Amino acid sequence: MTVADFDAWARTQLVAVEDCLSLWVPADAPAGLGTAMRYAVLDGGKRLRPLLALAAAHAVGGRRMASLRAACAVELIHAYSLVHDDMPCMDNDVLRRGKPTVHVQFGEAPAMLAGDAMQALAFEVLTPDSPAHPDEAIPAALQARLCGLLARAAGHAGMAGGQAIDLASVGRPLDEHSLRDMHHRKTGALLRASVMMGAACGDIDAAAWSALEVYGDSIGLAFQVIDDVLDVTQESDQLGKTAGKDVDANKPTYVSLMGLDAARRHAFELRDQAQSALTRSALRDTVWLSLLADKVVERDR
Ligand code: IPE
Ligand code: IPE
Ligand code: MG
Ligand code: MG
Ligand code: MG
Repeated sequence: MTVADFDAWARTQLVAVEDCLSLWVPADAPAGLGTAMRYAVLDGGKRLRPLLALAAAHAVGGRRMASLRAACAVELIHAYSLVHDDMPCMDNDVLRRGKPTVHVQFGEAPAMLAGDAMQALAFEVLTPDSPAHPDEAIPAALQARLCGLLARAAGHAGMAGGQAIDLASVGRPLDEHSLRDMHHRKTGALLRASVMMGAACGDIDAAAWSALEVYGDSIGLAFQVIDDVLDVTQESDQLGKTAGKDVDANKPTYVSLMGLDAARRHAFELRDQAQSALTRSALRDTVWLSLLADKVVERDR
């Protein structure tokens, strides 16, 4: 398998993801809500979380329709978290995915509601009414499991909890233990959930499940460490969001804690841990997960 094979696989997967999101994010939600939701979700972002879910499902021979729904659900939670993260009461950002942020484009209350509705939609997507095609039905137990994995990653123990720590830490240097905990929650939890939701769509033993958890934790943390690095090293044009925000807002980051080079080195160590976990998983087809781990640390946006 080559990088070109991966690119072809990823392109095909993302066409399916975009088609589903476009179908499921309603244009006709009342009073402009649908317009704001579609603006926030469609046609933007690297779509790393959907790719992780689908790569994990590929590794375990998972059910196709369930994994596609998992991929879209996790992207909906992620996109909602970005809408709220950018609001004036949080990071107060004006640029996201190369466009004005949702609150700049539509106003603060519509942005808050679009985020709320996207969060709820994620769980609707995971619990479909009777399917048009019976072979696409998702067993009730799997629907419940996917909802549980996503809820735990999005809520107080995961993303929302991490965001609370982030806001409470402005101007307050954190030690490595506390910073790691914040990053694991605010970003790592959803990336790990992407992997585990994809894995839940197949049938794997406890040892492989634990190995994938380590993989998800490692790339989840590495992803936010590199986000901290890119905030310092890249321009806004390249990132599609405002560069240099962390220093301006006085946020504790891996760069402020250990400096640029050590932060980057740490991300690559985490990538190596993720790769070792994949080997330990003894799953047959982890090549897409392996290439995604490389992309997490080698990315430039
Ligand atoms: C940005 O995530 C927010 C973080 C959790 C660091 P991404 O870098 O994945 O954003 P998109 O989805 O590509 O816009
Ligand atoms: C955001 O972290 C993590 C989320 C849960 C959205 P950041 O605040 O660093 O993300 P960016 O840099 O604005 O994308
Ligand atoms: Mg933030
Ligand atoms: Mg932010
Ligand atoms: Mg950031």
